[in-house]
Amino acid sequence: MTAGMHDLRKPLESTGKTLSTVVSAIALLCTLVLSVQAFASPRDEARRIHDRLAGVPPSAATLDQMEGLVRNGDAIGAAYIAMENRAFYDVTLKNWAAPWTNREEDVFVPLNDYIATVIGMVRDDVPFNQLLSADIIYVGRDGLQGVPAFSMTSNAHYEALENRNINLMENLVQRPQSAMTDLPPEATAGVMTTRAAAEAFFIAGTNRAMLRFTLMAHMCRDLEQVADTSLSPDWIRQDVSRSPGGDSRLFLNNCVSCHTGMDPLAGAYAYYDWDESARRIVYSPGQVRSKYFNNADTFPQGFVTTDASWANYWREGQNALLGWDPGRPGQGYGAKSMGEELANSEAFAQCQVEKVFQTVCLRPPSDAADRQQVSSMVTSFRGGNYRMRQVFAEAAAYCRAD
Ligand code: HEC
Repeated sequence: MTAGMHDLRKPLESTGKTLSTVVSAIALLCTLVLSVQAFASPRDEARRIHDRLAGVPPSAATLDQMEGLVRNGDAIGAAYIAMENRAFYDVTLKNWAAPWTNREEDVFVPLNDYIATVIGMVRDDVPFNQLLSADIIYVGRDGLQGVPAFSMTSNAHYEALENRNINLMENLVQRPQSAMTDLPPEATAGVMTTRAAAEAFFIAGTNRAMLRFTLMAHMCRDLEQVADTSLSPDWIRQDVSRSPGGDSRLFLNNCVSCHTGMDPLAGAYAYYDWDESARRIVYSPGQVRSKYFNNADTFPQGFVTTDASWANYWREGQNALLGWDPGRPGQGYGAKSMGEELANSEAFAQCQVEKVFQTVCLRPPSDAADRQQVSSMVTSFRGGNYRMRQVFAEAAAYCRAD
């Protein structure tokens, strides 16, 4: 053997040694992890279910009760017990919904009417596919010490509920939105017409933001993911240039991809606005807000909004995959029916389930087993009257040994 060959083999040998050491270390780790999993007792699993849902440890009595259920193969029943802890509502659900209510998707925002309405709908098993259409709002019950009355022009009611550490599980009450506000019943569209949503998404702009952020929060898609250049551009408003920078190809290859689908849906919001000086939502039936005519001279032959009609162009083409309800016409008038259109799609149900999975399992669904679980949860959610607590329970039961 020459010195040269020896020199070559030496590093190979040591690499081999290092490798085998690493491999056996990994194997040891795996065995440890596996054995921890295999030996996760029903009590450990019960504790984990409680932890994931409420974020706080259970009392001994609660843990005993949950452990008994887990032993009997009823981890879902155990999860329902964990959801009787106020922290599930005050903390877990608050943090779940908070990012949907502002443009920064910030979780650290004060309680508001959007978040409270989500919390209440989950608590009361209100079918969650009504989220974007119902005449519903949750407020603190009357007579809570130091809590100012609900107001259309301020968030103080909700901030006081939070700052005074009011137990939301016990003190939120459901009201018709049209009774608490001056919106007529037909103008209410679930969380889209809450004060918090209006302040965040009807402010300034062209009301397209309300659609974009609703899609992000409740269809789990930003516009890039629904972009389609193959649809008719006939509903694109006048403010979108047909030859940006003098190049009509840019319009055809880029601008249309979002605006063909977005502009006809955002027509549903034609009568809504946010009044920054009055600090409240505005609804002007029959009167299209002036923001719909911003920069109308950019392309005068573009679509002119004359009322609150909307149409869902995404029922055709690649976005048919979002699973629109074949029992609906795909067009209508006003935010309520448009909200129903979105919330009765498969994508909406899938999105809610995936968000719950992420919150409860502390990771997105990743492997084949996770995807199978998500799909069975979507089926159970849609077939079981859209009860959101059931989704939380099923996720917590699934991840209890993680
Ligand atoms: C990825 C999707 C997407 C593409 C592509 C796109 N837009 Fe938009 N556009 C939006 C959204 C979303 C809004 C609403 C923004 C908001 O109010 O927050 C918007 C708003 C607008 C507005 C209203 C003014 C404003 O800024 O709010 C104009 C004008 C406009 N787009 C023109 C164009 C033009 C011209 C193109 C092509 C060069 C284009 N858009 C490409 C999504 C898109």
